[in-house]
Amino acid sequence: MTHTPHPAADRPFSPFFLSDDGRCLHLLDQRRLPAEEIWLEITALEALAEAIERLAVRGAPAIACAAALGLSAAAHAFPDDPPAFRAAALAALDRLARTRPTAVNLFVALSELRAALDAHPQADARTLRAALRACADAHTQRELHACRAIAEHGAPLLPEGGVLTHCNTGALATAGIGTALGVIFRAHQLGRRIHVFADETRPVLQGARLTAWELARAQIPFAVIADNMAGALMARGEIQAAIVGADRIARDGAVANKIGTYTVAVLCAYHKIPFYVAAPSTTLDPDLRTGAAIPIEERDPHEIHFHGDRRMTPLGAPARNPAFDVTPAALVTAYITERGVFRRDQLGALFDL
Ligand code: MRU
Repeated sequence: MTHTPHPAADRPFSPFFLSDDGRCLHLLDQRRLPAEEIWLEITALEALAEAIERLAVRGAPAIACAAALGLSAAAHAFPDDPPAFRAAALAALDRLARTRPTAVNLFVALSELRAALDAHPQADARTLRAALRACADAHTQRELHACRAIAEHGAPLLPEGGVLTHCNTGALATAGIGTALGVIFRAHQLGRRIHVFADETRPVLQGARLTAWELARAQIPFAVIADNMAGALMARGEIQAAIVGADRIARDGAVANKIGTYTVAVLCAYHKIPFYVAAPSTTLDPDLRTGAAIPIEERDPHEIHFHGDRRMTPLGAPARNPAFDVTPAALVTAYITERGVFRRDQLGALFDL
């Protein structure tokens, strides 16, 4: 894995793309934003897995696309003997499945890649490489289109005034313009006068670092707030709606999203403010009956103890670091997907995939 400046400034912005020969995944290192725009060059499976685990790429749809495209790049180093190629590819799928547990999009992409291998039982390595690449491209294209449709469906829902969002759900987190942030971009584009409040999103600061970076580039009026300020601003009438993304939605409509989302939803319910969830269908998990079954990633407490290089807690202080929480359907005003808007009493239609 090497670091380079942006290798292709002439392309439409995306935090990941394959080199022309398909052997290298270029990945914008989101850990370095906003201070530096550094691109990783990923050609090997382990570097890809570590980039996902360590949040160089993050956001449910982006993780899945980067995993699929990155695997297709890494497959150039797999053996040419077909059984050995297949064994290396299956081991790669297993390794990627162990990177981050909560966002179901990753597992959707991995099962598509496995199906692409299974569809060619007698194929040579060249054909298998092409099948993985086609699968990764198709997944990424679908996510790109889903973002556009989500933005179209969601934009009319946003009122003028203050709109709160949590974590980062824009181009950095997806293959397109984003989910929740895509809706905000589209509403702004349509002339809606919106002022975005971006929760800083402790502990990794996806809101302060990434959402602020995207909003500034799009010239949308915004302010970053500490996570504990949203309630006070709602009480003062400064927030008219909240919109967030999702990492996994269970069949009961419960939504796993970045830790702190549940708090926002509870505050919205108390203040009678609409709380919208924007996500592509790849974030729906029809196999999970309830939100209680969603696996919640527990990350290294180092993220709690340290702010940059500076330790914030006394040596030896215990800390917990669940990366996601689960918001029950009762707190969700509506789900916005590429197939339309679904109120919480339309979960059957939402899951009619
Ligand atoms: O830990 P992260 O940064 O991968 O968490 C991301 C989120 O929780 C996003 O809100 C979610 O993936 C939706 S991204 C369109």
